[in-house]
Amino acid sequence: MASEADILDARPVEPQEIEWLSKGMRNVGFFSKLGRAQLAEVLPYMLMIRYARESAICAEGEPGDAMYLIYKGGVVITKEGWKDPVARLKEGDFFGEMALLFGEPRSATVTTEDETEVFCLAAEDFQRLVDKSPDMTDTLRKLAESRRQSLARS
Ligand code: CMP
Repeated sequence: MASEADILDARPVEPQEIEWLSKGMRNVGFFSKLGRAQLAEVLPYMLMIRYARESAICAEGEPGDAMYLIYKGGVVITKEGWKDPVARLKEGDFFGEMALLFGEPRSATVTTEDETEVFCLAAEDFQRLVDKSPDMTDTLRKLAESRRQSLARS
């Protein structure tokens, strides 16, 4: 995690958030290929972290130690040498998967635009999921590949 990140709160995931994850989120990329059992298995390892506005959660070039799923708020993705932001991500989107999947440093900087709450999954727990769910990993890898291509475009 970047040192400039201003953490307001970090705690285990609460029941209503688990509900949100297991219902809504199973329709989107990261969790769509995850069975209930796998989801249940990973939830206890997730932390809910609340960041202040304009916190750098990931810094370009740093090693990756976690991936994140946005619960509330939003982030902007920026890259050194780019005039405009690479992307903006909001509730339900995820980030930080590329460094973990490709074993590379963070490809870009991720900064909160508002006060933002994220589910955080540490690299070793992410790896546990990858080992157990090849379908989920395929989905995630395809998305990560297309993100990587859009970064190579500049
Ligand atoms: P990672 O490289 O671990 O850290 C920076 C993150 O920014 C990266 O993972 C992605 O999750 C995200 N990111 C990079 N490029 C894009 C993109 N083109 N669109 C959306 N998100 C991106």
